[in-house]
Amino acid sequence: MKNQIIKIFDTTLRDGEQSPGASMNTEEKIQIALQLQKLGVDVIEAGFAAASEGDFNAIEKISAVIEKSTICSLARALENDIKKAGNAISKANHRRIHTFIATSPIHMKYKLKMTPDAVLKKAVEAVEYAKTFTDDVEFSLEDACRSEMSFMKEITEAVIKAGATTINFPDTVGYMLPNEMFKIIKELSDFISNRAIISLHNHNDLGLAVANTLAGIGAGARQVECTVNGLGERAGNAALEEIVMVLKTRNDAYAQYKTNINTKEIYPTSKLVANITGITPQPNKAIVGKNAFAHESGIHQDGVLKNKSTYEIMRAEDIGLNKNSLVLGKHSGRHAFKNRVFELGYSLNDSELEEAFIKFKDLADKKKEIFDDDIRALVTSEITKIEKIYKLESMQLSDCDNGLPMAAVTIKYKNKIIQDAAIGDGTIDALFKTVDRISGIKGELIDYKVDAVTKGKDALAKVLVKVKFDDCSTPIMGHGLNIDTMKASTKAYIGALNSYLSMKK
Ligand code: KIV
Ligand code: ZN
Repeated sequence: MKNQIIKIFDTTLRDGEQSPGASMNTEEKIQIALQLQKLGVDVIEAGFAAASEGDFNAIEKISAVIEKSTICSLARALENDIKKAGNAISKANHRRIHTFIATSPIHMKYKLKMTPDAVLKKAVEAVEYAKTFTDDVEFSLEDACRSEMSFMKEITEAVIKAGATTINFPDTVGYMLPNEMFKIIKELSDFISNRAIISLHNHNDLGLAVANTLAGIGAGARQVECTVNGLGERAGNAALEEIVMVLKTRNDAYAQYKTNINTKEIYPTSKLVANITGITPQPNKAIVGKNAFAHESGIHQDGVLKNKSTYEIMRAEDIGLNKNSLVLGKHSGRHAFKNRVFELGYSLNDSELEEAFIKFKDLADKKKEIFDDDIRALVTSEITKIEKIYKLESMQLSDCDNGLPMAAVTIKYKNKIIQDAAIGDGTIDALFKTVDRISGIKGELIDYKVDAVTKGKDALAKVLVKVKFDDCSTPIMGHGLNIDTMKASTKAYIGALNSYLSMKK
């Protein structure tokens, strides 16, 4: 049968957020959800409503702004979880509850301490209750791939009768081999027939998540769960961009399948997620890595110059990577800047545009050429900004007589200018200690990462910090962008402080 749609269920905002260090604030999640809609994903798993108030609010807000994609919340097979999920998605145009319980002997015995009969009963109750909020209910058999086939069939039969419309068989621990995945899904697909959509959710512990997903599609799955850049718990989930580009590039082998993805939005989506989470795909990552379309060896370069198809199996343009993009510089005006921002797919309001333009001009004074990735980084920091309770005005660094670095920082707070200075074990330590003295809030630096946005000596520095403030046990993330790495670091630290204070409000 031709043109069978493979539904893309994106879980970047839920399983992806379970990547160590990938937590996002509500505004950032909304921006990612809007981009996922533009990318064309069918279902956005926006979070796990019962996990925290923050998750609930983010799902609720995403439900209110997304029109086309279905918005889904995860829920354990528990009444309270399902109620929270149902309430969080209530404003969505298309809404789904995704409820789950583990079905493998290992999970049932050691984690749930429940008998298979009790698990089956809970699963049915969960689906029946979820149906009171929406018709679109997905049921997952957690750790399905290590579950017994007879039990999987029994529970699948029961939840379909209870009203589940999609049944998900996750390889929760990333243990399967593609031939095994094919066999399991084929048997389940024959059993389910067309009574529900079969979904896959593969983890990448052995690097086989995408291969297993493709094997499952061949066996009858019609929904695949995946994440942008392959983010996710432990080694991550199957990468959305890889699945989609395999189906497109190897259309000869997958001629009967189609996705609703606009592949030209793949690169912008990957960049947005990387800029927000601070997790940049490895350079050699398939499809979206920095080197995925670069040719290093002379022989390869020569071949590509003669004919791209000698060494390229995909076109960079097809994933939205425009290598010959217009480069802006200090003489570019408001109009050219606006156009470029618009062409890159951002929709900013007038005041956001103006602020971004001021930042652009400031940057253009210091940097000869401004690339698309610079603009993406600038605009992302603009659209996901949190209230600037503290704002960096200026900073100086010097050495004390004893050789230790000293920082002097000037910060604006509630229209007041506050200055202070501190000595630190290193420059960053001195800067951050000074900010602590000014705010009166002590921060403990948990993680610090610096990246160059583009190449060249004058590249923008993108700094990510994770800081634990005072009594709060959760590290808060902050981003800073500047041509000067120390300034970017201070901005990142102050950004984390502002996030912390906004959360406390
Ligand atoms: O990996 C997993 O099993 C999950 C389920 C909750 C779908 O993330
Ligand atoms: Zn998972």
